[in-house]
Amino acid sequence: MALKITVIGTGYLGATHAAAMAELGFEVLGLDVVPEKIAMLTEGRVPMYEPGLEELLRRHTAGIEGATGRLRFTTSYEEAGEFGDIHFICVNTPQKHGEYACDMSYVNSAVESLAPHLRRPALVVGKSTVPVGSADLLAARLAELAPVGADAELAWNPEFLREGFAVQDTLHPDRIVVGVAGDRAEKLLREVYQTPIAEGSPFVVTDFPTAELVKVAANSFLATKISFINAMAEVCEAAGGDVVKLAEAIGYDERIGKKFLRAGIGFGGGCLPKDIRAFMARAGELGADQALTFLREVDSINMRRRGHMVELAREAVGGAFLGKRVAVLGATFKPDSDDVRDSPALNVAGQIQLQGAQVTVFDPKGMENARALFPTLAYAATAAEAAEGAHAVLHLTEWREFRELDPASLGEVVAERRILDGRNALDPDVWRDAGWTYRALGRPMA
Ligand SMILES: NC(=O)c1ccc[n+]([C@@H]2O[C@H](COP(=O)([O-])OP(=O)(O)OC[C@H]3O[C@@H](n4cnc5c(N)ncnc54)[C@H](O)[C@@H]3O)[C@@H](O)[C@H]2O)c1
Repeated sequence: MALKITVIGTGYLGATHAAAMAELGFEVLGLDVVPEKIAMLTEGRVPMYEPGLEELLRRHTAGIEGATGRLRFTTSYEEAGEFGDIHFICVNTPQKHGEYACDMSYVNSAVESLAPHLRRPALVVGKSTVPVGSADLLAARLAELAPVGADAELAWNPEFLREGFAVQDTLHPDRIVVGVAGDRAEKLLREVYQTPIAEGSPFVVTDFPTAELVKVAANSFLATKISFINAMAEVCEAAGGDVVKLAEAIGYDERIGKKFLRAGIGFGGGCLPKDIRAFMARAGELGADQALTFLREVDSINMRRRGHMVELAREAVGGAFLGKRVAVLGATFKPDSDDVRDSPALNVAGQIQLQGAQVTVFDPKGMENARALFPTLAYAATAAEAAEGAHAVLHLTEWREFRELDPASLGEVVAERRILDGRNALDPDVWRDAGWTYRALGRPMA
């Protein structure tokens, strides 16, 4: 009989995973503790912006006309426990308030809520990003709380999806990593992922600690790469060099590669910053903190970018923000997402406003979330509206729509034709030809 799957926590990761599992042919039940989220998903609406996700959801959600009906949603752990052979844990693991460490309370709560309803053999598969050592503890807790005892098994299967490409990455992962304690778990996970495995996705089987570490190691590497090029941008500015040319030139070396070498205002979002901090905290607990001291520098280079962008903007408007209007293009931490968690763009916008400027923000998809997080900023319905009367326009999230802006017509509405490119994604020549002063991080003035 076909495996039945539950997905616990239907946020960015879980909603995508649930829809993707239904697409792969499984019967799926998604569970969340937020009833409004479940109500939306049940109607085939996605509570976040993710390209292609709503279509996928509507293709499978029971009750939607023409849907396969393989996907349903609930808030009941009892129902989930009865329904599933495999339970994916996709709840959030944020940074603890006032500490670097990871807040495991949501994962613990999910396992403790589910376990008492496991009355037949089941596999619980953690996908959330957790500190190394968590799976061992959770496996013991699971066997202790589940009526079925040790037949409630645990596996860890970290997730590598990128927001903005979540559907593609989930259906066609570049690798599948599973940490297992036995053959049964591996066999079941091979069955779950048989389609991507058949397509050629590498399937890496390992133990719990390695599986947990793969995820944070990957994020640490990416964060380091970004901070590396941003450190080079700082040196370029001091020396009169051009970081964009530098990145192009080093990127031709195959050992280095071109990706993730775009200097700018740095990384943010719900993953990278909190994951590298939690990794440092966990290494400290393990007595291996020296191994990760470089991540402190990576974090600090990254946070410095935001302050530096604010300084560039201040300089651009003549040395003080008071009485100046600043347009901010972009609110999300990256394009093709509505996610504003720890967004460098919003952070910069907020700092500039606190220093006395009138800041107006526009983002193609992140307006609602931005408003909820920073209600005191002004928001405009279009890029042109945000730019009206601006003494400087800041490009802070590299949406395609911003790359395609027409500098000539935008130039009609601003007070001063000054653009600061916080993502090194615009074409300086095009903007300069239209009479703008173009400045970017790590590049010469003209
Ligand atoms: N977003 C990404 O791109 C991404 C990528 C890879 C890994 N991850 C990891 O996946 C995990 C989830 O991230 P996310 O971005 O989807 O977070 P999210 O905040 O969007 O979603 C988490 C969901 O879990 C629900 N939840 C919380 N406690 C619950 C409980 N006890 N029972 C049931 N549901 C509960 C929340 O209501 C929310 O809907 C994190 O560990 C994150 O680090 C995220």
